[in-house]
Amino acid sequence: MQPVHSSLTTHLRCSNPGCATTFDLHERVLACTKCCDLLEVAIQPPPEDPAELKRRWLERRTSNNPCDTSGVWRFREFLPGDYRQSGIVTLGEGNVRLVRALNTAAWTGVRHLSFKHLGWNPTGSFKDLGMTAGMTEAKFTGAKAVACASTGNTAASLAAYAARAGLIGRVYLPAGQASANKLAQALDFGAEVVQIEGSFDDALDVLLNGRDPDLYFLNSINPFRIEGQKTAMFELLEQLEWRVPDYVVVPGGNLGNSSSFGKAFVELKQSGFIDRVPRMVIVQAQGANPLARMWNAGSKELEAVAFPETVATAIRIGNPRSWKKALQAVEYTGGLVMDVTDEEIGEAKAMIGRDGIGCEPASATTLAGIRKLVSEGRLDRDAEIVAMLTGHALKDTDYIIKVQQKQQAADALLTH
Ligand code: F0G
Repeated sequence: MQPVHSSLTTHLRCSNPGCATTFDLHERVLACTKCCDLLEVAIQPPPEDPAELKRRWLERRTSNNPCDTSGVWRFREFLPGDYRQSGIVTLGEGNVRLVRALNTAAWTGVRHLSFKHLGWNPTGSFKDLGMTAGMTEAKFTGAKAVACASTGNTAASLAAYAARAGLIGRVYLPAGQASANKLAQALDFGAEVVQIEGSFDDALDVLLNGRDPDLYFLNSINPFRIEGQKTAMFELLEQLEWRVPDYVVVPGGNLGNSSSFGKAFVELKQSGFIDRVPRMVIVQAQGANPLARMWNAGSKELEAVAFPETVATAIRIGNPRSWKKALQAVEYTGGLVMDVTDEEIGEAKAMIGRDGIGCEPASATTLAGIRKLVSEGRLDRDAEIVAMLTGHALKDTDYIIKVQQKQQAADALLTH
């Protein structure tokens, strides 16, 4: 069998530019042993002409090879390439459409708004993009069991991909805080579920402090997860025929996803695929907003939120581990960080539903953020904007039912 691609060698590198210590690509190390910052995969720019690669990526859409039907591995020239094609763990992730906003655009007051719905992935969230890369690496290094802490979506995705890889999956969830739908997915895919009293941050601490050498760790501090997730921006730009939008808006929780988008922009610009980058806006929920607080204060040190609280349970995170990478990405793109209230999230989520699209609450932070920026006069109504939706509407059906029941009760009161 063929390797996924052959010409490039890559290594791991500390993401702190002032340190940049390197490690072997497949060394199982979670953070820099010198400065403790997170690691990243150092990608050698592919030698091919960008126009040639863009053409090849498009051509792969007509192929039935599993490495081509995956919307992640289709862009494999920018991914670690040591794996055999037969070793790729894929469910055909990626390949999600860009959908024009209709009612939602009018509601926010902007003219050119689209949604890229990463919730339309195999397990219903963007996590699948990172999981195909992380699980492939886990299998390649001979792992027998994989684990993550999660607010629910990573757990569902890990469980599914572990099942595909034939590995044991174990997920650490904050007890009673992940939606029933996400918990059900993890169980359905056969993962071992460990409920931890406390928040996501506590669950992650328990897992990390356990230092179990037999567990391969698959949270987004794993740099291979970031590699997979960055391809969302490759696919987006391809869908826009490489016309760069003015803004990409993304929810912020543990801040792995925004970090991955930043990495994509750096690599694509440095390799001549694009000549400018979109401004990236990270939107957090107000009750779980450490990066937005830091941004507003103009500070350079993150202060964790001890008791994060928001209806958007996916991003109920007080101590985001990838904040330095995400901040670098926002600064690189000339973007910004902001927060929105639970009420604003609820309104935006309802509007996305009325547009026939739907999403889980965490994803609606993006639309809420856009509306807020417009109302404050901080966003040009003619700007080309892409809002990332990260989780499917069916990820949190309790929330929808509760909101609808409350609405019906309020309507009934009004008519009496
Ligand atoms: N949107 C959804 C639907 C999520 O599930 C998450 C994170 C985010 C946004 C935020 O992404 O952490 O990369 O900034 N969910 C994680 C989980 C934490 O465990 O499922 P981030």
